Amino acid sequence: MPQADLTNLELTVAPMEGLTTVVFRKIHAEIFGPADRYYLPFVTPTIEPKFTERQMRELSPKANIGIKAIPQLLTRRAEDFLWAAQALSDLGYEEVNLNLGCPAGTVVAKAKGAGFLGDPIGLREFFERIFAKELPINVSVKTRLGLKNPEEFAGLVELYNLYPISRLIVHPRIRSDFYKGDARRDVLLAELANIKLPLGCNGDIITLENLNSCAQDFSSAPGGLVELMVGRALMADPALFRKARGKAPAGKDEILAFHNALFDAYAALFESRKNAMMRMKEYWFFQLNLFGSNDEISALQKSAKELFRIREIGEFQSSVCKIIDTFSLLTEPRYGWRKPL
Ligand SMILES: Cc1cc2nc3c(=O)[nH]c(=O)nc-3n(C[C@H](O)[C@H](O)[C@H](O)COP(=O)(O)O)c2cc1C
Repeated sequence: MPQADLTNLELTVAPMEGLTTVVFRKIHAEIFGPADRYYLPFVTPTIEPKFTERQMRELSPKANIGIKAIPQLLTRRAEDFLWAAQALSDLGYEEVNLNLGCPAGTVVAKAKGAGFLGDPIGLREFFERIFAKELPINVSVKTRLGLKNPEEFAGLVELYNLYPISRLIVHPRIRSDFYKGDARRDVLLAELANIKLPLGCNGDIITLENLNSCAQDFSSAPGGLVELMVGRALMADPALFRKARGKAPAGKDEILAFHNALFDAYAALFESRKNAMMRMKEYWFFQLNLFGSNDEISALQKSAKELFRIREIGEFQSSVCKIIDTFSLLTEPRYGWRKPL
């Protein structure tokens, strides 16, 4: 396949609660070079027009020095969106992202996130109300294809096109897919010619080849393809974007330095090394996919089982070091986190 041109595309980090945190963003940028954008895991604004101390841990400009951070809001109430957008602008942000994709039961039950997609009339009212104001901040949207059916996407695109949304990032799954099966790129492709907004493409982008094929397949979007967004694969291969820019893949020393820095920073934040270890296991669920040649897979799986069972901090650290030492480091991760539909 001829190489697509990635130079004019932003390569961005998907918002992932518990993973792409303030701790991750800073250390990732330091060790592997900053991504073009880091979307912050969602924040839910409440009726009281003030971010909590906990929310400010992620939102404070001090937490995001040296990187382009885009905060994300999860709400269906225009009033709450409006105060929060103003407050984010006051903090110095130039863009706020609206979450129209979260599939969690508690969120969808309140018709927020992917749940809001099932109420196009309410969604239209919401956009009417927020865009009626002279907002001091750009509003981008991250959306799924629909709540129950991919056929909802055409109507949603028609709705989004009516508003000055600064970019539309599509994770081409429906709510009931959760994160299972494969991204339904064919649905996005079929609708591509109708998307007038600047487009971002997300979902199951894992390798350089995937970046290139998405760049190629979606480049004819009428509003322009402006970004490729990666979540889980970046947890497996934190050097993915650096490689895409023609530089070196991750080395074992970097993976160890990355692990150590994250572990220490979470231990300081949680004031508990044990809780930090639990968090590190979430990263290793993905990170392990960058290790082990085909011949080494069954030994790696055994080591992985042990790693997730460990409860003692010293043992966990030696087990991580042993895995890094023993197994081959791959240049592309396996898609080991795929779950069938
Ligand atoms: C643990 C986890 C947390 C996530 N949190 C958010 C979130 O806060 N906001 C959001 O828009 N998407 C969230 N997502 C979805 C991702 O941003 C992304 O759309 C999805 O993982 C598909 O992209 P990927 O295949 O590159 O991971 C989350 C996904 C995971 C796995």
